[in-house]
Amino acid sequence: MNILFMGPPGAGKGTQAERIVEEFGIPHISTGDAFRLAMKQETPLGLKAKEYVDQGLLVPDEITNGIVKERLALDDCNKGFLLDGFPRTLQQAEALDVMLSELNRGIDRVVNLKVDRGLLLARLTGRRICKACGSTYHVMFNAPKQEGVCDKCGGELYQRSDDTEEKVGTRLDEYISKTAPLLDYYSGKGLLCEVDGEKEIDTVTSEIVSCLKGSL
Ligand code: AP5
Ligand code: MG
Ligand code: ZN
Repeated sequence: MNILFMGPPGAGKGTQAERIVEEFGIPHISTGDAFRLAMKQETPLGLKAKEYVDQGLLVPDEITNGIVKERLALDDCNKGFLLDGFPRTLQQAEALDVMLSELNRGIDRVVNLKVDRGLLLARLTGRRICKACGSTYHVMFNAPKQEGVCDKCGGELYQRSDDTEEKVGTRLDEYISKTAPLLDYYSGKGLLCEVDGEKEIDTVTSEIVSCLKGSL
């Protein structure tokens, strides 16, 4: 299955993607994770991406498209993939259509996680991530058993530098002006599946699975 996850910052894309890739046995491709890794390693890509990510702005399309194109060409994507946080502009969506047609593939389903703006700030400022394995937690909504420690691997939990109130505001504005219009693009193609992302994490997972199985 070739799946796209859309939704505003904090909607639960990463949380749900961790579960869905396990269920479907496909790779999880997150452009945000790719940028954060490159930033940590201070590669040329990372240094460039940092100028945008740290401000909560979208990284330019040419840079982002290049990363996805390289990743989709790897063998493990033959059985399918889950793209989390890409595309985020109409130009990226069109570039993705070209990349996939060159690989003789298409998109099977686009899942949109719907969450009201008011809830997103609380989700993002309370988010904690494992330094070692990348698992996502929330200090109130999905707390680890021991504060600051990952349940899965014992790694240390940290807070993303763009999860401050000010940066979240910019990220939401970017989402509304550049990414939200893509919902019409995919709904017009009959690929869109709307899921209420405000429900419990397990309930959201089941609704996504039903939506995906419905299209198999
Ligand atoms: P990216 O890393 O993709 O960030 P984002 O889109 O802002 O989304 P998040 O990762 O913040 O949220 P999420 O939906 O994954 O939520 P999560 O599951 O963690 O991108 C970061 C930056 O990289 C961008 O700002 C941009 O600069 C750049 N970038 C990336 N892709 C790009 C692209 N295509 N083009 C250009 N630039 C790009 O959940 C959030 C919190 O809520 C967690 O604490 C979680 O535990 C909790 N939670 C989740 N679900 C629930 C629930 N159902 N109930 C209660 N709590 C919940
Ligand atoms: Mg994420
Ligand atoms: Zn961990």
